[in-house]
Amino acid sequence: MAQLTAQPLDIPGLDAELSKQSPQQILKQALGQFDNIAISFSGAEDVVLIDMAHKINPNIQVFSLDTGRLHAETYQFIDRVRKHYGITIDIMYPDAAQVEAMVTAKGLFSFYEDGHKECCGIRKVAPLRRKLSTLDAWITGQRQDQSPTTRGSVPVVQIDGAFGGEERQLIKYNPLSHWTSADVWMYIRSYEVPYNSLHDRGFVSIGCEPCTRSVLPNQHEREGRWWWEEATKKECGLHAINPTAS
Ligand code: ADX
Ligand code: SF4
Repeated sequence: MAQLTAQPLDIPGLDAELSKQSPQQILKQALGQFDNIAISFSGAEDVVLIDMAHKINPNIQVFSLDTGRLHAETYQFIDRVRKHYGITIDIMYPDAAQVEAMVTAKGLFSFYEDGHKECCGIRKVAPLRRKLSTLDAWITGQRQDQSPTTRGSVPVVQIDGAFGGEERQLIKYNPLSHWTSADVWMYIRSYEVPYNSLHDRGFVSIGCEPCTRSVLPNQHEREGRWWWEEATKKECGLHAINPTAS
């Protein structure tokens, strides 16, 4: 089953309406609209989405992309979240033959030499594409304050033309779009939500281990990601519909 209501969605109208609402209200609308919808969980502070959604529907679908290069702390955290909420987390893996071909030809750290696009394409984007081909809608933890250049205009809800198509429309919800990092952390503390222990060691935005580092006070969170590349290139293709994000 696709949508729970027969009405076609007016996405710009819905975005305008939901933009005035809280992340919890946005999630309620999303989960009421679609039954084949899942949260894309990175193993970082986007755990707030799981906490909120689980209060609305304990059977919420969640998936994570295991690139094979996450921090040990992130693997431990993903499993802690699974047990804490009593949920199933679908773990998506990259194609073994593609990873083998890349690392055999170029070594394990080719992204430092020729950019992260190829490795992210194999380890993140292709597994995401496979997962999204089974869904009608997905939910991400993207926020506008994460990156003025690439995320400054992330809407609350949009048609995902990067992973969907004309024959199969895919809807993407970003319920935290208008929240700040401070809002997220206020929520985590207030509701005693479990969090990745890397945050206690100065990590703010968390991705793969070789491509993430901690940041200093007042440094922007995105400066800890792919720090050897320009700010406008700090996107891996998961959110390819954002400007300059492919
Ligand atoms: S990234 O594109 O630069 O890696 P970021 O770490 O800011 O993304 O996370 C933004 C959102 O993308 C997360 O809240 C999550 O929805 C999704 N995401 C990022 N990494 C993963 C992952 N490994 N598995 C599942 N979802 C992810
Ligand atoms: Fe590869 Fe780094 Fe991208 Fe992870 S973030 S998939 S290690 S380039």
